[in-house]
Amino acid sequence: MGEVDPAFIQPAEHRPNLSFTEAQGIPLIDLNSSSNAATEDLVAEIGAACKNWGFFQVINHGVPPETRRKLEAAARRFFAQPPEEKRKVRRDEANPQGYYDTELTKNVRDWKEVLDLTVKNPTILPASLDPADGELRQLVNRWPENLPELREAFEEYAGEMEKLSHKLLRLISLSLGLQENRLSGFFNDHTSFIRLNHYPPCPIPHLALGVGRHKDGGALTVLAQDEVGGLEVKRKADGEWVRVRPTPEAFIINVGDIIQVWSNEEYESVEHRVMVNSEKERFSIPFFFNPDHSVMVEPLKELVTEQSPAKYRPYNWGRFLTNRKLSNFKNLGVDNVQIHHFRLQESSS
Ligand code: OGA
Ligand code: NI
Repeated sequence: MGEVDPAFIQPAEHRPNLSFTEAQGIPLIDLNSSSNAATEDLVAEIGAACKNWGFFQVINHGVPPETRRKLEAAARRFFAQPPEEKRKVRRDEANPQGYYDTELTKNVRDWKEVLDLTVKNPTILPASLDPADGELRQLVNRWPENLPELREAFEEYAGEMEKLSHKLLRLISLSLGLQENRLSGFFNDHTSFIRLNHYPPCPIPHLALGVGRHKDGGALTVLAQDEVGGLEVKRKADGEWVRVRPTPEAFIINVGDIIQVWSNEEYESVEHRVMVNSEKERFSIPFFFNPDHSVMVEPLKELVTEQSPAKYRPYNWGRFLTNRKLSNFKNLGVDNVQIHHFRLQESSS
């Protein structure tokens, strides 16, 4: 690569620091508990991690290592293909599922290429952003025809991600003092998707990012990162960017915007970003656990009191997601929809 496209250059205040902190990392939680007493401890640990960090890693999560390795291997094979092969499954405005390498985060280009696939095939979303328009559309996956093993590995992995996410959702519900299954009904016809990420080596790692700083818009994210590392989380305690050290076989979990709203900000969705480096390529696979398109997201009644009134007005998840998918397809010149647009004014007392 010769000259680097200026679209990749981060504004000075958002450029990464190449000498990063790795001290005081995010909590590591062992999900393997059999007794009731152990479950109580686990719930307390999850609650503390959600509250203090918004991020944690899990081990003994029950996802078979081969299931993960098969999808990781298929993703490597997919991205190693020539550009014209990858472009055969390229996304377009009508169906934003598939391959692309031009994603913008906060209107700066990310140093990455991705393949997006929905877990339910097809996945149902509103056809337009207009609340009066009840029309729906179907997102259909584009499978690379020459790599049938990718589809097979994906389906197996997606099933495991659904199981793990429901387990985490039950633990998070308990940690908020709710019934174990309080949140599961929102996910019957869920709109979850999996992104295969490839971050190629980058000649300007001090100026660009693999993914610019952002929060995840869904309920929960379950991320598999490889051994290279690069994910940074904004530490709530002091606002420092801290690197998440790769832990073999672990998954990284983070609270998304929807849990922030459901919990009425008991838990917050935390900013994160991805650094790239000039020598090694990196792969990662986030699973974004998202509710049905029809869900109206709002603070749960059990968590709203006179002392802590609802901090958000209800918004429709399907239209929120449609807005995101459209605005990262083309640069609309403005930031895309954010939950703070639904934040209610603090009443001054
Ligand atoms: C994302 C993300 C992190 C990573 O895709 O939303 O935060 O390590 N990815 O790839
Ligand atoms: Ni993210």
